[in-house]
Amino acid sequence: MKFPGSHILSMAQFERRDIEQVFTVADRMEPYAHRRRITKVLDGAILGSMFFESSTRTRVSFGCAFNLLGGEVRETTGFEATSLTKGESLHDTARVLSGYSDVIVMRHPQAGSVAEFAAASRVPVINGGDGANEHPSQALLDLYTIQKELKHQGREGIDGLSIGMIGDLKYGRTVHSLCKLLTLFNNVTVTLISPDELRMPPEIVEQLRSAGHRVVESDNMEQSLSHVDIAYATRIQAERFANAEEAMLYRGRYRLNQAVYTQYCQPNTVIMHPLPRDSRAEANELDNDLNDNPNLAIFRQADNGILVRMALFALILDVVEQVDTHARDVNWYTERRF
Ligand code: NCD
Repeated sequence: MKFPGSHILSMAQFERRDIEQVFTVADRMEPYAHRRRITKVLDGAILGSMFFESSTRTRVSFGCAFNLLGGEVRETTGFEATSLTKGESLHDTARVLSGYSDVIVMRHPQAGSVAEFAAASRVPVINGGDGANEHPSQALLDLYTIQKELKHQGREGIDGLSIGMIGDLKYGRTVHSLCKLLTLFNNVTVTLISPDELRMPPEIVEQLRSAGHRVVESDNMEQSLSHVDIAYATRIQAERFANAEEAMLYRGRYRLNQAVYTQYCQPNTVIMHPLPRDSRAEANELDNDLNDNPNLAIFRQADNGILVRMALFALILDVVEQVDTHARDVNWYTERRF
């Protein structure tokens, strides 16, 4: 794919060499993300950040990634703050706001909405999550994390991976995008653990199988975890259910904690979650007692979001080779505790 000027809407746009390119650029962003160097390569550029659904990591890390490249962020959060509540169409909003920024990242509760917006935008648009459909930058940072965690264990590459995805696989857009991304690799075993009602959409299972992957579907977490390299937990997407009570039927169905981990996982199984984890007692899909488990990668995963999102901006705005020439060392205290 040609990155400069492109929208990033779905994992389906990517080929394997595009993924490699994103990850190579992400590695090169480390001195900036880790606050050893600053770059002003995007000095004067404006990111339009439009989040019409709640978000912590995605919104803030896209914004920080842009700031770390020297650009400025103009943020809109919630429908109430915009003229979409006055009946303005996504088309008109896109035409107007794309005149005010160089690139836009958008999250919206409706599947397909970000693509509709992008079609009317005069600048590149990145999908920060469109309903239950996709969340491509999350899939990229997830795979980047998987690759890094396995490398730390002395394993090279994604081919041959065994991953278990746990929870709401029907409405979880992160797992939808991650499965589509995995179709670019070879010989992956994907164990899909969910209540029967929240199974992975059949067309995505079909895409995995057509890629030659082994797909196992189960509603039993404990019995399914023994062979996985990665246990990827997800939150029940209560906001996507027709009624909130229905979501309550599933919250708390799967609870990964240290006792379960010790009994059923391999000693080096990596635990991931796109976050937020629902830590309320009735859900608690990923227990706090895992916080000291060195294989709990969730915060490293969130940190990696900065690197991958910086890489996407650098590629889309075509400044990869200029990042280091507009840089200098930082002049403040930068030691981090962890
Ligand atoms: C996810 C999302 O919004 O799809 N969060 C994220 O972006 N890291 C997952 C979720 O909300 O459960």
